[in-house]
Amino acid sequence: MTAEAAGVLLDYSKNRITNETLSLLIQLAEGSGLRSRIDAMFRGEKINVTEKRAVLHVALRAPKDASIVVDGENVVPQVHAVLEKMAGFSKSIRTGEWKGHTGKRIRNIVNIGIGGSDLGPVMAYEALRHYRDRSLAFRFVSNVDSTDFAEAVRDLDPAETLFIVSSKTFTTLETMTNAHSARAWSLEALGGDESSIAKHFVAVSTNASEVAKFGIDTANMFGFWDWVGGRYSMDSAIGLSTMIAIGPENFRTMLDGFHQIDEHFRTAPFERNIPVLMGLLAVWYTDFFGAETVAVLPYEQYLKRFPAYLQQLTMESNGKHVTLDGAEIAYPTSPIYWGEPGTNGQHSFYQLIHQGTRLIPCDFIAFGTSLNPLGRHHDILMANVFAQSEALAFGKTSDQVKAEGTPEWLAPQRVFEGNRPSNTILADRLTPEVLGKLIALYEHSVFTQGVIWQINSFDQWGVELGKVLAQRIIPELETAAEPELGHDSSTNALISRYRHLKESA
Ligand code: F6P
Repeated sequence: MTAEAAGVLLDYSKNRITNETLSLLIQLAEGSGLRSRIDAMFRGEKINVTEKRAVLHVALRAPKDASIVVDGENVVPQVHAVLEKMAGFSKSIRTGEWKGHTGKRIRNIVNIGIGGSDLGPVMAYEALRHYRDRSLAFRFVSNVDSTDFAEAVRDLDPAETLFIVSSKTFTTLETMTNAHSARAWSLEALGGDESSIAKHFVAVSTNASEVAKFGIDTANMFGFWDWVGGRYSMDSAIGLSTMIAIGPENFRTMLDGFHQIDEHFRTAPFERNIPVLMGLLAVWYTDFFGAETVAVLPYEQYLKRFPAYLQQLTMESNGKHVTLDGAEIAYPTSPIYWGEPGTNGQHSFYQLIHQGTRLIPCDFIAFGTSLNPLGRHHDILMANVFAQSEALAFGKTSDQVKAEGTPEWLAPQRVFEGNRPSNTILADRLTPEVLGKLIALYEHSVFTQGVIWQINSFDQWGVELGKVLAQRIIPELETAAEPELGHDSSTNALISRYRHLKESA
């Protein structure tokens, strides 16, 4: 039970499945219309029905000569035009040709964004640190908590700092609040001269009019399109900070990695199709075993933000309770994704995975070589990843424990029941190309799961209510006069208490 695509191996043999299970799961995929749904996505059909949009992150990495038509227009040339513009800009920053308002070269890049406009750039920056230009400093500001901004810029010289305001809508409260604070911070240091904005702010957005309203010249805007979902956008212009960090060539090889897996997903038979197999296994444990979570455990330090990135990709996509037609769903949908890099997790939560009462399928991710070879480290790291999946699968019986001389009374504590499932994803080493492949595998696994659950993996209505309520509460916290509060008693009391804390501070 292994599958291989574009040099990436999936070993899925340590799962609670037989060949019969697999063939039944594949029948489930076929019966759910997975093949036609894949084709519809790649053809640019508006499969995001609730937002009436095509879902075309695959076009972001399509080769120049490809043709993908949306509303009568081939979008591939537009994609490549933006990539060219990004490459030109990245080069001018990397060579020092782009100067700040005072004539100093840019040395600090601060990406301001949240959700898909932050998690992808942060993850890719960490994942590809090895390939980055070390003469530039990169920071990421996402939280509306002012500490995030304050700590990010504390040691930076505004004359050498470029802000990339990344927001698909350019209306997101957190991002716009941070962007306005950045603008004030920059202007104050640069003598209040509004013309300095053009040298220290660029935007990545689909909303040119809001970008202009903010004061950024749309010549310094890098566009993308409504058919790119936020959590599927790290390979669009949202990846501008990534491109500046690793250079346009490396960025292009990352796109090529994505594309290789896109082609694999589009064309490989389901029984050899890695994202399909990964998706089916997720459905298997979620719906047939009641597993509530999946642990993603990269044995590669550079992937330390990969689980956080996957949380938005998986849970904002498939955390849904109604079908595409709006019918209430009677089965569990997206599991909770979480994880930490190995081997750290082994000395923390693995206890529960090995001996707890819950079933937690694991994805181990590992590489043949380290980017920082040092003595025996990599062999020790890899021995650990192989040992963990072996221990989870085969465990240790009471007889084995006793045969080692463990006293009868202690034996139950030392038994590992085994039969705990895991996948191992193995590739040669973490290059930009391999990172692209890895992300695409998960993107398409999420798609596979969504098709089987008959849900729309591309909207996110569940984030709306909190946003609306926050807008109602903000004036109630800011007004000097005691507001008339009309919430529930708990919320009213919390607001009053906060106002009191604020007054007495
Ligand atoms: O959290 C909701 C969400 O819409 C995400 O889907 C998106 O990635 C994020 O907000 C940021 O949105 P924007 O890029 O428009 O600022």
